[in-house]
Amino acid sequence: MFRLDLGPSASLRPLEIWHAEEFATHLDRAREHIRPWVGPAFVTDTVEGAAATITRYATSAAADGGRLYGIWVDDVLRGGVMFVSFSAAAGVCEIGCWLEPAAEGQGLVTPAVNALLDWALIERGLHRAEWRCRADNVRSAAVAQRVGMRFEATLRGAWLNGGVFHDKQVWAILREEHLALRAG
Ligand SMILES: CC(C)(COP(=O)(O)OP(=O)(O)OC[C@H]1O[C@@H](n2cnc3c(N)ncnc32)[C@H](O)[C@@H]1OP(=O)(O)O)[C@@H](O)C(=O)NCCC(=O)NCCS
Repeated sequence: MFRLDLGPSASLRPLEIWHAEEFATHLDRAREHIRPWVGPAFVTDTVEGAAATITRYATSAAADGGRLYGIWVDDVLRGGVMFVSFSAAAGVCEIGCWLEPAAEGQGLVTPAVNALLDWALIERGLHRAEWRCRADNVRSAAVAQRVGMRFEATLRGAWLNGGVFHDKQVWAILREEHLALRAG
């Protein structure tokens, strides 16, 4: 099975339909922590809801679109990263992430996002990878900055969540910028 080590006890693996119960259990630990920051469709509260999220990404992946990956620490699912969107034709993808509270502050997501950037921008040859977060999501913006993305814009009132229109930041990195960073 595909797995990429993120450290001594952490790994990145595809999050697939046979993980639905495990994903739902993880969401029980993560739900209120991620609710302000991620799309409502991702914040499910049943095994069926968790399975629907995985199925949505699997359908997208089958068309070379979005993809979903989990981060396991000591074989417990603690969060993940995803291609929110992925278009080889347009040369552009968007990357997202989430963690349950206990897994924050351990440097798990940054190497996982770098792995997705390597695959999208180097292996698949896409031109641009984007990151979109609520403008007050400091930890999310810090991830974008740590992987070398540049802050490009604030989209005013662009994201409706919890009945409020939130400002949204756009961060991005281009293929040549990522290659230069990887070359050191
Ligand atoms: C966004 C989110 C995934 C960021 O998590 P994170 O733990 O801050 O990010 P990383 O996993 O990359 O870890 C970096 C942190 O680990 C620390 N760290 C510890 N060991 C590290 C290591 N070996 N390498 C890098 N960082 C390390 C860093 O100092 C940093 O902590 P700090 O910001 O307190 O200084 C998390 O806050 C979250 O899930 N938020 C809610 C959901 C969300 O906002 N999703 C994004 C929607 S746009």
